[in-house]
Amino acid sequence: LVSHLSNGRPKVVICRDLGPAMPLLMERTDIEVVLWPEDRGCDRAWLLKNIKGAAGALVLLPDPINEEVLQAAGPDLRVISTMSVGYEHIDLPLMAQRNIRVGYTPDVLTEAVADLCVMLALMASRNDGVAYTLVKEGNWPKYAWSPFTFCGPQISTMVSSPTRTVGFLGFGRIAQSTLTRLVAFGVTHCIYSGSATSAPNPARDAALQAKHKLAALERVDLDRLAGESDVLFVLTPGGKDTYHLVDAAFLQKMKPMSVLVNASRGTVVDSDALATALREKWIWGAGLDVVEGEPKINGDHPLVREPKCVMVPHIASATFETRMAMATRAIENLLGGVFGTEMPAELGD
Ligand code: DGY
Repeated sequence: LVSHLSNGRPKVVICRDLGPAMPLLMERTDIEVVLWPEDRGCDRAWLLKNIKGAAGALVLLPDPINEEVLQAAGPDLRVISTMSVGYEHIDLPLMAQRNIRVGYTPDVLTEAVADLCVMLALMASRNDGVAYTLVKEGNWPKYAWSPFTFCGPQISTMVSSPTRTVGFLGFGRIAQSTLTRLVAFGVTHCIYSGSATSAPNPARDAALQAKHKLAALERVDLDRLAGESDVLFVLTPGGKDTYHLVDAAFLQKMKPMSVLVNASRGTVVDSDALATALREKWIWGAGLDVVEGEPKINGDHPLVREPKCVMVPHIASATFETRMAMATRAIENLLGGVFGTEMPAELGD
């Protein structure tokens, strides 16, 4: 029982300096904190060495938590707390099998991610990748003002173009918050596809349709989602059930002037198929916060090379307010798991 204790205190391993949230850990006298000391992702070897005998670990998206980690930790590990809403990097069945509690950070990042979804949709539709690069490279004088250069599809409605259909692959909290923002742009129709296991929710849908005064809000199959969306947001969890749901066949069904945004997990979208879709003009543009294989996305990546693809490095939740809330929640989850008390957001609850 005492193997994980240092001077009677349970050991916790923290895989990244949590900045302004660190006092919440460091000022406690009832835990021993072992902190990855560098300002970059935690080395695997460091984690495997330091997690030995730990009661809990606070991890991030790039830290796969699997059998190897549990073996290294030994029998005292009680909780894995991830500072993320996504948990593709954690082997959940294994955690359940070993009675290890898992904390995550839903809700607190919903608004920041929804903000970024709108940003990416606007950037992708309005040629921001090319236009911004032109200015940064000092080429504005060559362009002057030109009637149709840099034009793209308009997201907001106008008299000559009075309807817009927004689509969501996955219709959870972030999707619904994104919809709320797009209502101000005059979006008239909303369609979405839920996972095969999520039950239809007609009462919720009717209430949302009335609240946003939409002409329609409908759960549809993937064919209709692809074929009818003017802007399509991918906001479904990653994992084997959603792997490459957006593939060549899906992209070929999309409208030539449509825009695809992915702020969920890179694995949901087949990158090669998306690059082909952009190159061959099956769709207008793409805005990506996540890409399969990240962070190893260099300048030669087919999507980086596509002018109509706007890409940011997984920063959807990166506001000061949200990251502080996520760090705080991750710490609270960690402490709840270590001391056997309530965790504010526990998976499997
Ligand atoms: C998460 O927390 O899983 C998100 O990907 C952050 O943007």
